[in-house]
Amino acid sequence: MPTTSSSASFDPARGLAVLRTPNSVYAVRIGADGSPRHLHWGAPLDTDALGGLPAAASPAASSFEADPAPDELAPQTGARFGPAGLQVRFADGTRGAQWSFTGHTVHGGELRLRLADRRYPLAAELCYRVRPDSDVIERWVELIHTGADDAGPISVDRLDSASWATPALPDYRLSHLVGGWNSEFQLHRDRLPVAETVLTSRRGVTSHHANPWLALDDGTADEEHGEVWSTALAWSGSWRITVHRDPVGRTTWTGGFGHEGLTWTLGPGESLHTPVFAGLHTRDGFGGASRAWHTHLRTAVLPDPERDRPVVYNSWEATGFDVDQAGQLRLARLAARLGAELFVLDDGWFGGRTSDRAGLGDWKPRPEAFPDGLRPLADEVHRLGMAFGLWVEPEMVNRDSELHRAHPDWVVHAPTRDATELRNQLMLNFARPDVEAWAHRTLDQLVRENDVNWLKWDANRVVTEAGWAGHPDPDRLWIDHTRAVHRIMDRLRTDHPGLRIEACAGGGGRADLGILARTDQVWTSDNTDPVDRIGIQHGFSQLFPAQTMAAWVTDSPNLATGRTTPLRFRFHVAMAGALGLGADLTAWSEEDLDEAAAFVARYKEIRPLVQHGRQHRLTGPGGVTAVHYASQDGAEHAVLAWRPATRFGHQPAGLALPALDPAARYLDVDEGTTHSGAVLTRRGIDLRLPAGDYASRLIRLRRTI
Ligand code: DGJ
Repeated sequence: MPTTSSSASFDPARGLAVLRTPNSVYAVRIGADGSPRHLHWGAPLDTDALGGLPAAASPAASSFEADPAPDELAPQTGARFGPAGLQVRFADGTRGAQWSFTGHTVHGGELRLRLADRRYPLAAELCYRVRPDSDVIERWVELIHTGADDAGPISVDRLDSASWATPALPDYRLSHLVGGWNSEFQLHRDRLPVAETVLTSRRGVTSHHANPWLALDDGTADEEHGEVWSTALAWSGSWRITVHRDPVGRTTWTGGFGHEGLTWTLGPGESLHTPVFAGLHTRDGFGGASRAWHTHLRTAVLPDPERDRPVVYNSWEATGFDVDQAGQLRLARLAARLGAELFVLDDGWFGGRTSDRAGLGDWKPRPEAFPDGLRPLADEVHRLGMAFGLWVEPEMVNRDSELHRAHPDWVVHAPTRDATELRNQLMLNFARPDVEAWAHRTLDQLVRENDVNWLKWDANRVVTEAGWAGHPDPDRLWIDHTRAVHRIMDRLRTDHPGLRIEACAGGGGRADLGILARTDQVWTSDNTDPVDRIGIQHGFSQLFPAQTMAAWVTDSPNLATGRTTPLRFRFHVAMAGALGLGADLTAWSEEDLDEAAAFVARYKEIRPLVQHGRQHRLTGPGGVTAVHYASQDGAEHAVLAWRPATRFGHQPAGLALPALDPAARYLDVDEGTTHSGAVLTRRGIDLRLPAGDYASRLIRLRRTI
């Protein structure tokens, strides 16, 4: 029986915690050993039914088997042999926690279960939050050393945010995102092996190679049907999620910040708080799960979800490091003519930065390129009616820089190890308060002095030879560096209310719910080839809404792939996200400039649907894929359809639009024709694609009755 809102409750008599969302229920019971055990996550059940559920389907079959009741956070004691979400060592060498349940609190939609170790000075709160009109459950953990000043430290070898479990299913399929630089967000759906499957980043950033999102189903879900359980971690540094499918048919997973082998030392009175690990159960397939995530990002994560993302012009692919005031002004004038609303000056404007070998860290305009500083360019960009954006890479330093010469000790580096340089750069240790203060001061000044409206915050290397000379607990840098990045972004936004930030790490290397709580969008990939982008965007959209997906139209042949594609196709692919332009416009013909201006104008017409509507991913016949964006009230629709390669010269059959109302009629706004909803949902709309490869079309529909 679905409820309309969400609630959190705890019944002390039954030791039963229940989190209700509009379409799902999550229940936990305090086990006989004092540990919170997972009871149910899925379809709504009333509290009496939940209270009557056995903690596990069957008891352990023998003294060799694990306790079958899944833990909310496995504490490394008892008959538990799977991945432990909490791993601690006390001063006497004893490992693990044995909990007593000490109470609970409920405030609105937030529930906390309080635990204390039976013999050692360690307490934990398992925290849960539900929000109105959302099926997402947010979970995190707070661990506290409760000992007196003279108590020894506690080593925390692992503290996950949450462990999750699905009901027993006949089979399990894992959907996850993998890739690399230029190939981020590739969606893989793999049958889950009876094994432990580790998804992780050991790089100190979220990573191009894996994303801390996953979905589980029984192998039968599709875009519109089927139960899906999915989770996403709000963390932008290293992370680890271990999915455990056991031989007797249960699947659980546990995840949080940090990769294996890192230790955090907790002194008396200190606490360690994890990032949020959010979970979602839906019954409307992968598309339904994505739409619920998109809504969650808009209502609970993004700092400014209602604001339209501007059409950006970014100079990187046009000018590389070869930037100067005159060249950027030429591009800015053309960008304004095309309808761009934001001009971003990318890499190469500062210090001795004429290539990637020097200058990082010296955030002063390069005098040969900008003799009077950035202000003349910023002012002219503003005069042209655009916002002014600036590329920065604050966490990085080239050895060949004033900053490195002055502060060689500021880098993340174990001093007895050779430092690996990646892209000729090293990483600054933002875990150091003095480095964090420098970075904040530097960025604050840049924004203030140059009237900067937008920062593109890049990060082009990952952590190697991590070390922190002289610090007793150097592993802390893995977590504290990321916390400092988040904190600086938060402070900049607070102090400069108009400022927007784009998250970038050599393309989409830092895309997660943590970074998107303080940035407006993600630079999705350095690969701007429209054919590759269709797959990248498909994966990205599993979790993130289109308004956060920066997508540029660039030159053809494409820099990354050498592929030649028509302007129309490039626009139609990029119009599915936050549209941008990244081409060398000085080399474009008048016809191309006019055509591009018309596409930008068209994008602005559909922007409310793309950026604030509901998204449906579609697959049509004949190699066609498409996305359908519907306004929240179902009145307006935009469909972007792409066919990269023609097949036998055939026109594909109709593209079905199942999200439309079969009882309604729809006007094709551009063609002036009307269509029955019943036909469009079942037989589909005739795409009438142009002949040849790289064919695409935008269709706009308006409900008439
Ligand atoms: C990597 C980014 O992804 C690019 O867009 C560009 O900003 C370069 N860095 C600049 O070095």
